[in-house]
Amino acid sequence: MSAPTPPYDRIPPEIVSLDDYEAFARGRMDPAAWAYLAGGAADELTLRANREAYGRIRLRPRVLGDFRGANTRVELFGRTFAHPLLVAPMAFHRLAHPQGEIATAFGAAALEAGMVVSMQASVALEEIAAATAGPKWFQLYLYAERSFTESLVRRAEAAGYEALVVTVDAPVHGVRNREQRAGFRLPAGVEPVNLREMPPLPVCESPFDPAYLATLPGWDSLAWLKSITRLPVLLKGVLCADDAARAVAEGLDGVIVSNHGGRTLDTLPAAIDALPRVAERVAGRVPVLCDGGIRRGTDVLKALALGADAVLLGRPVFHGLSVAGATGVAHVLKILRTELEVAMLLAGCPTIGTIDRRVLW
Ligand SMILES: Cc1cc2nc3c(=O)[nH]c(=O)nc-3n(C[C@H](O)[C@H](O)[C@H](O)COP(=O)(O)O)c2cc1C
Repeated sequence: MSAPTPPYDRIPPEIVSLDDYEAFARGRMDPAAWAYLAGGAADELTLRANREAYGRIRLRPRVLGDFRGANTRVELFGRTFAHPLLVAPMAFHRLAHPQGEIATAFGAAALEAGMVVSMQASVALEEIAAATAGPKWFQLYLYAERSFTESLVRRAEAAGYEALVVTVDAPVHGVRNREQRAGFRLPAGVEPVNLREMPPLPVCESPFDPAYLATLPGWDSLAWLKSITRLPVLLKGVLCADDAARAVAEGLDGVIVSNHGGRTLDTLPAAIDALPRVAERVAGRVPVLCDGGIRRGTDVLKALALGADAVLLGRPVFHGLSVAGATGVAHVLKILRTELEVAMLLAGCPTIGTIDRRVLW
């Protein structure tokens, strides 16, 4: 595997959109790492659907509104965020930049964006937390074995993470053919450093091997997690309203509508198409967030209109990181935030609270 091309020390002026960042990043990352980042499961139908679905939704403009005091503030778990854009949890940021998650944290903090740090981060969770004062949540996968998870939760609490995000849509690695064809392997020096003490998972031919099945978490694992922490716990990877209703009934504090960026089960619907039913069922009892395919401020507006309280941004953050490090991450978030403000102004919404289905055509 070749090392990533060094980041630019200034942002090429022709980069004006998140898609521009993707085009630049593609030429800079090692091809196998690119396949890992960009790829989805199997035929990548869900990966494509995430974006196509936003393209099918039409907005309804409003003119001559009163915008005095307009802002993009949102409140989540008792903290006010300047805007509803968070960095989604993604493994191994050092694939894109030598500073990895530290650079991402700087970029996110510069734009006052919340950052969800993956359990599979390539930098120690304490170092990422200490790098900036920006709000951070910690994402983890649960396993039947609990003592390692508990130690991770204690570390996250001690480091100042403000919420836990439990990802439940990837109990098994998706059938990632693009990644397989490219022969992706983690390069030397990039590893999930926070998991060094984790008991190894059994290596099994089939996910139905009883040894593998014995590692899987259940709803009882969530109840246990709630019982050992006072941090809010969000469930990430919910598309089905029944699962969202169960999450609320089990006392979870938030739901993230996501198909893992099309990386787990192919032919799932686009996240934005699953969002309305989940949001209706949750009915405001807990925050609902959404990710997958968000590349434009208009996409953010549509997600908020269909029931999201905030959104997460995945691959574009990696693209910004690979092109220009922390500055690139900040610029990606800045582009999206400004686009959201433009879209809100043209759709007649001075605040996030005024965004609802009336902005849709
Ligand atoms: C390279 C990569 C690594 C990811 N790693 C994780 C992870 O460790 N934990 C997790 O919950 N989701 C992970 N995801 C999924 C993202 O959190 C998010 O759901 C998805 O990327 C959103 O779609 P988008 O990339 O189209 O914005 C990963 C996604 C990518 C692209």
